[in-house]
Amino acid sequence: MIKASDVSHSVAVHGGQLQILKNINLDIHKGETVAIVGASGSGKTTLLGMLAGLDVPSSGELTINNTSISALDEEARSTIRRDYVAFVFQNFQLLESLTALENIMLPLEVKGDKQAEKKAASYLERVGLKLRAQHYPRQLSGGEQQRIALARAFACEAPIIFADEPTGNLDAETGALITELLFSMNAESDTTLVLVTHSAELAERCQRQLTMHAGQLSEHCR
Ligand SMILES: Nc1ncnc2c1ncn2[C@@H]1O[C@H](COP(=O)(O)OP(=O)(O)OP(=O)(O)O)[C@@H](O)[C@H]1O
Ligand SMILES: [Mg+2]
Repeated sequence: MIKASDVSHSVAVHGGQLQILKNINLDIHKGETVAIVGASGSGKTTLLGMLAGLDVPSSGELTINNTSISALDEEARSTIRRDYVAFVFQNFQLLESLTALENIMLPLEVKGDKQAEKKAASYLERVGLKLRAQHYPRQLSGGEQQRIALARAFACEAPIIFADEPTGNLDAETGALITELLFSMNAESDTTLVLVTHSAELAERCQRQLTMHAGQLSEHCR
């Protein structure tokens, strides 16, 4: 489903080069749940962005569903993302000017889904927030906003969900609720889930655990 072969990434910083990712090799199969853990600044978010086709590595090969990302321009990569990828972020990233329901509908409308409103309403109900349909993000708690973000991600029915610290801004109890919802919705839809977390509990829930250390990746075998 996603394959990284010898992926490295450097950025230019005041006269020098900063190497963020070093020779990453990774194969993620359909339906797997994968956690990426590691110290702050070790390159987890950068790697997630590469795996999701948001950015292109400086060297190495990255394929999503057998399509090589490096050879594509931004427009072609955005088409791949639209068809294959959905995101959940630490800071929810809902659009402030749209209601909860409209936030879930938006990516479906972008795809031209005629059932956008109906589908969005059913995912809103799935996350237990039917009564908050007309609320704007500022009228929702953090945990509620993340539930809307989960509904938005799963409503797309993309084969791969990427989540960058999905419980990072939430208290322990709310984080546990989001974790339950994330894994139950993932199991229902048979999605591939790749998440970054600082939470040992969340990482433990995944079938595979990978650790980033200064741009290098290692896998724990359990
Ligand atoms: N565009 C960029 N330009 C320069 N440096 C960058 C850029 N993007 C990331 N970095 C640097 O690369 C390193 C890895 O960043 P990244 O955001 O991937 O870390 P992370 O593991 O996700 O950390 P955290 O757990 O704090 O979110 C950091 O030292 C960061 O400062
Ligand atoms: Mg990060």
